[in-house]
Amino acid sequence: MANTVEVLPDKAKLIERCLDLVVAKIEGAIASEGRCSLVLSGGSTPKALYEALALQNLPWDKLHIFWGDERYVPADHPDSNQRMARQAWLDRVDIPAENIHPIPTTSDETADAQKYEREIQEFFGIAPGEFPSFDIILLGMGDDAHTASLFPHTEALQVKDKLITVGSKDGEPRITFTIPLINRAKSVIFLVAGQNKQAALAQVFAPEADPITYPSRSIEPVGELWWLLDEAAKPV
Ligand code: 6PG
Repeated sequence: MANTVEVLPDKAKLIERCLDLVVAKIEGAIASEGRCSLVLSGGSTPKALYEALALQNLPWDKLHIFWGDERYVPADHPDSNQRMARQAWLDRVDIPAENIHPIPTTSDETADAQKYEREIQEFFGIAPGEFPSFDIILLGMGDDAHTASLFPHTEALQVKDKLITVGSKDGEPRITFTIPLINRAKSVIFLVAGQNKQAALAQVFAPEADPITYPSRSIEPVGELWWLLDEAAKPV
């Protein structure tokens, strides 16, 4: 499907553009399916987007929130992606608690990855082995071209028969969507800002480069792929 790359002059304009696109896609999904399944990215870039979403007036009861990855820390830990999104957005709007589907980090990473996979299967009413299509998956990209918790030269990149797997960042455990699950999405939106992402982005956009070294190259959704960048992140 269509790949779109948009470059905005600065971070504020980038967040504004991403907000418009995400709101339009949420409203579109609800209009056509009666609900929207939205997958959040972690890290620092999307915080301003989540704060802007908290000011919107959307049918929150029809929005279902998942996370594309999570650090294996308690939900109240400063590094928790769930904690960031709740503080920036979800605690500020009237979204039913049962619509929020955080990645569990309470036993061990393998068991919790399997538990999250079951939660997704139940939400979509699918059998093991089937891959659902999330309406919108938000992704960030690290300066090493990782996305979600799919880090260069890690085993998680090879997992093709699961929805959720265990990732690793320098030995620190993560739980992450797999590449095939991300690639089933109706829309994937990368939100990338900052000069420190420029070199990695050049490799991701290059005609040839190794996807094991630059994992974001493997994100080729059946649906739409959007790259929203600020000028600083744009490859020269
Ligand atoms: C995470 C994210 C990760 C993030 C990139 C970019 O858990 O850290 O899901 O994939 O999107 O590392 O992070 P920044 O936005 O902080 O640069």
